[in-house]
Amino acid sequence: MDDRFRTIIEPFRIHSVEPIRLTDRGEREARLEQASYNLFALHSDDVLIDLLTDSGTGAMSSEQWAGLQRGDESYAGSPSWYRFLAAVRELFDFAHVIPTHQGRAAEKILFTVLGGPGRVIPNNAHFDTTRANVEFSGAQAVDLPIAEARTPALEHPFKGNMDVDALEALLADRAGDVPVVFVTVTNNSGGGQPVSLANLRAVRAVCDRHGVPLFLDACRFAENAWFIREREPGQSGRRVADIVRDMASLADGMTMSAKKDGLANIGGWLAVRDDDLAEQCRNLLILTEGFPTYGGLAGRDLEAIARGLVEVVDHDYLRYRIRATAYLGDALHDAGVPVVRPIGGHAVYIDAGALLPHVAPLQYPGQALACELYAAGGVRGCEIGSVMFGRRPDGSEQPAAVELVRLAIPRRTYTQSHIDYVIEVALAVAARADELRGMRIVAAPPALRHFTARFEKLG
Ligand SMILES: Cc1ncc(COP(=O)(O)O)c(C=O)c1O
Repeated sequence: MDDRFRTIIEPFRIHSVEPIRLTDRGEREARLEQASYNLFALHSDDVLIDLLTDSGTGAMSSEQWAGLQRGDESYAGSPSWYRFLAAVRELFDFAHVIPTHQGRAAEKILFTVLGGPGRVIPNNAHFDTTRANVEFSGAQAVDLPIAEARTPALEHPFKGNMDVDALEALLADRAGDVPVVFVTVTNNSGGGQPVSLANLRAVRAVCDRHGVPLFLDACRFAENAWFIREREPGQSGRRVADIVRDMASLADGMTMSAKKDGLANIGGWLAVRDDDLAEQCRNLLILTEGFPTYGGLAGRDLEAIARGLVEVVDHDYLRYRIRATAYLGDALHDAGVPVVRPIGGHAVYIDAGALLPHVAPLQYPGQALACELYAAGGVRGCEIGSVMFGRRPDGSEQPAAVELVRLAIPRRTYTQSHIDYVIEVALAVAARADELRGMRIVAAPPALRHFTARFEKLG
């Protein structure tokens, strides 16, 4: 990369395009009302810029599309499976790789085997599906982020780190009830913040002392490794692929959603070192997902992931990816909009609690802000606050630690002018934040309520 120029360009050209249907505020308000103010219930062609999630929403490369043609759909032992396996092992050298249709299927299988009543699963921060799968098994999901992670405005290079002392205290007390310790890289619910190699080593040492295995929730492993290269002392000249291998070498297994840093639209896997655990998981896989050489995937999906794993550790791609996210976040921050600092890898998190201090946490400031971003400019984000995390397993409600709206950036999908538009919309909404009112939930399922809950606006 020629470093005489400051502009980081998208390191790709556009090969085929998808039209965006332009709408006006009146139409969007009607759509919102029809969707009961749940942005998951919108038709996506009523959305102008879709920042709901970075999961499975990225654009594939021409090489990945070519891979789809090579996909071999043999039931057992397909060459596509072996190409997928080799690509996974190139980065994550685990003895057993178990393909699944997406990340939560890997979680469901693992926690069915390892979870259960009386068990405790610590994590730097569980994401929604991970927490739900742990709790569904009857186990308790415990978040142990470092203290700095609880203050959105605070700058810290590795705000995704786990609180090692808190982990030590938990294991000293209850190691017998802890079947696995998880670390999520990067930490999605905590702002897309990275975990350092030093922290992973310290967590590993605590796990070793107590004889508990360590697993990675590795969805955004490449983004995490790029931050390590940029920020961790002694890591700056290294290849990202080597940093990923170091991260993997510290773990006994991983769950993965290939819809993120697999650069694919579907897919995932569970990988483990332990032979007995692998056998139990494979037995469940056959019951719920499919034969062990395809899991829940078509051969063509395995090809897309295999190629995606090569492209995702490319330095030009990662430099652009992380800078593009920071471009949005820094613009909002510089204009005075409160955002989680520093800017994470895959998303910008607006601190709705700070922007809408007049809306109580259980009147869902994040949901109110997300709805207004859509009404004002057709920008769809996602509440990560008391709607997503406020309901306890016993049915009671408690405010979440923070009230955020996540603007997740799909990979290789939007250009800088799309993001300039998002900035303009967000600043216009922020300028009249004091006019926004809270919401109440009129109907919701017992788990993962944010996907289907129905809301009403408070007067
Ligand atoms: C950190 C983390 N873990 C697990 C998952 C679940 O992956 P999937 O959506 O493929 O089931 C996600 C998805 O957003 C995630 O961000």
